[in-house]
Amino acid sequence: MDIDQLRELNMEIKQNISLKNRNTFGIDIYADRLVEYYSIEELQDFIRCRVADGDKSPLMHIGGGSNLLFMNDFHGTVLHSCIQGINVTADEGDNVYVRVGAGVSWDDWVQYAIDSSWFGLENLSAIPGEVGASAIQNIGAYGSEAKDFILYVDCVDLETGDIRHFCRAECEYGYRDSIFKNVVAGRYAVTHVHFQLSHSFRPNIEYGGIRKALEEQGVQEWDLSPQVLRQTIIRLRQQKLPDPAVTGNAGSFFKNPVVSAAEWQKLLQEYPEAPHYDAANGVKIPAAWLIEQCGWKGRSLGNAGVYENQPLVLVNNGSATGADIAALSKAIQDDVKKRFGISLETEVNFVCGE
Ligand code: EPU
Repeated sequence: MDIDQLRELNMEIKQNISLKNRNTFGIDIYADRLVEYYSIEELQDFIRCRVADGDKSPLMHIGGGSNLLFMNDFHGTVLHSCIQGINVTADEGDNVYVRVGAGVSWDDWVQYAIDSSWFGLENLSAIPGEVGASAIQNIGAYGSEAKDFILYVDCVDLETGDIRHFCRAECEYGYRDSIFKNVVAGRYAVTHVHFQLSHSFRPNIEYGGIRKALEEQGVQEWDLSPQVLRQTIIRLRQQKLPDPAVTGNAGSFFKNPVVSAAEWQKLLQEYPEAPHYDAANGVKIPAAWLIEQCGWKGRSLGNAGVYENQPLVLVNNGSATGADIAALSKAIQDDVKKRFGISLETEVNFVCGE
């Protein structure tokens, strides 16, 4: 597709553009073209023109760029959804059903839901990124995951322009995982996500430090409001996670590994103090602990570093390239493997330009 055809489609197109402000790591790489669309129809027009032209040039879709590591320039078209809108589709008994545009900022959506007295998302406050990506990555924090509230996901097939709906079961959700990261990776653009929230506020304060933080503020459980819970979560995150506007990072870089009961027993012999949580298929060990034990907390390798308050987070010390971050990630994975025999899997998605 040439630029004149794209202009006729009335879309926002930028050529040879830096994506530095489009990824929270702040990696300065270039894309041949960035196309931003504001409706399903615009995206469909774009895809149908591409198909009619026989254009097979590389295509990739980004959201807020908060879970990406660009390894090099992207010679192709980067798509970004600017689809907005938060609309109630049904309101029945305790449940409210809401359709949200993929381009809405995740945290704006959480704030909007709480302000509207639609509850459930409080523990997912202050997660960077956009609503479309939340359904792909199954974002999670403090004992909640996006999948707990997603009913179905509206998509456009990037090969045909056709609309396709995925119900929750079809999304094959797992820990920071979905079908969109596996068998159909790269095939669909999420245009809207349908959420089911509740009119009743049922706080979940059992996870990681929430109860303690509330006690410190003198807040009693019976007196807890959704707003106070949200502010508490925001503060907890601010204490542990670097602000990407100041220090480039993509949140947790690795997933927390799950080991078998036998492996756990072996680890326990040597490290009786090792933190752990029960998981459906074994025992979950915090990657932050494994990384700290290997001496990486607060350390750097070239322009990439391990965050001093949460070693699960890798940071751009200023002018890191994707390769710098990847080299640090590999060094950590090698050390954890050597010392504990555990393979750390990355949560961040690596993007290798064509
Ligand atoms: N820990 C250490 N050293 C540290 C920090 C933590 O050993 O310096 C150990 C402690 O044992 C601590 C444990 O790690 O109890 C867990 O730490 P934390 O509660 O900070 O959570 P996490 O498991 O490291 C996960 C998510 C975060 C999410 C938090 C809170 C993953 C990969 N990460 O981190 O998600 O915010 O729980 O729910 O599951 C993200 O996905 O980008 C993200 C930030």
